[in-house]
Amino acid sequence: MTTPTESDPEATPAADAGEGSAAPGDPAGAGVGTGDQLETLASTAVVPAAKAKRQDPVFEVGDRVLLIDRKKRRNMILLEEGGEWHSHAGVLAHGDIIGQPEGVQVKSSHGLRLHCIKPTLSDFVLKMKRGAQVIYPKDLGPLLMLADIAPGVQVLESGVGSGALSMTMLRAGAIVTGYEIRDDFARRAQRNVESYLGEEAMSRYHVEVRSSYEQIDGDYGRCVLDLPEPWQVVPHAATALHRGGIIVAYTPQITQAVRFREVLERYGFGMSQTIEVMQRGWHIDGQAVRPDHRMVAHTGFLTSARLMSDPTPPGKDAATNGSPSDTSLGEGTGDDPHPDDPGTRR
Ligand SMILES: C[S@@+](CC[C@H](N)C(=O)[O-])C[C@H]1O[C@@H](n2cnc3c(N)ncnc32)[C@H](O)[C@@H]1O
Repeated sequence: MTTPTESDPEATPAADAGEGSAAPGDPAGAGVGTGDQLETLASTAVVPAAKAKRQDPVFEVGDRVLLIDRKKRRNMILLEEGGEWHSHAGVLAHGDIIGQPEGVQVKSSHGLRLHCIKPTLSDFVLKMKRGAQVIYPKDLGPLLMLADIAPGVQVLESGVGSGALSMTMLRAGAIVTGYEIRDDFARRAQRNVESYLGEEAMSRYHVEVRSSYEQIDGDYGRCVLDLPEPWQVVPHAATALHRGGIIVAYTPQITQAVRFREVLERYGFGMSQTIEVMQRGWHIDGQAVRPDHRMVAHTGFLTSARLMSDPTPPGKDAATNGSPSDTSLGEGTGDDPHPDDPGTRR
């Protein structure tokens, strides 16, 4: 096993950087120099190992580890006593990782160097076993905000699929009841939740094998949907949610979002909005700085709305058949800024 040290440049991320993969940190100060300075730094710098701290957590049996090679390929393993990871690059003994701090670099029997780090929720969602297609992390984060998920909030979620969305809301402290029509998916979601979040989260997670198109029992503050026809759930959500409660649906097709919006309006929901989240990575390597060539061009749309006491949409006057009474609130007037508009940066 090798760990990155100042006296062992061959084992440092800097040594790897020369062979095409990004160096994870930049303590050599590459961000402050220009042109020639940067080149000199890049060719001579030895990236020092992060200073050890007393509270540095170390890997233990039962921990998940993300193994990352220099081409940024990732494999997730669960550490076992006496366990081994086998790949085209030979064997890696789990014992080489157990007891080491996060970020340590180890070598397989054929010399493949691998960084070891604990997976984040986002890493886990992309690597975990799936039944149904998951919602991707780029949409999971905004979804938490749109649904205003917080500790103790009661959520009705449907369908639960592989449990990616359940895990995200549970980790934010919500109490989640899931309705899922497929028994195998319900079990897969529960296994994934337990495996990453443990028993405490399971005490806040209850999954029923049933259709949310038929009925929702109980009282909730949030209704979060990822299923083919979310508009079929709206009449039941309007009864189950408290006033002011929030409904959010993730839909791959805009036609689904449009239909959902139409039905929301008929059942007393207001403040509706539909957004699409686009994420573009940037390639930053010395002076080569540009957007990544590839990006995930589309995943889905997020539509949210709130259950109103008075279903007349703000800014519209029912007596005048929906014509805007206060254009300063301006939904759809074209001239007025949207409340979320950050304004023009100068
Ligand atoms: C795309 S998956 C959900 C994935 C989940 N959001 C995740 O992040 O892992 C859609 C799920 O909706 C379920 N479903 C479809 N119709 C349903 C219904 N009427 N009631 C409950 N679940 C339903 C499907 O069985 C499937 O598991």
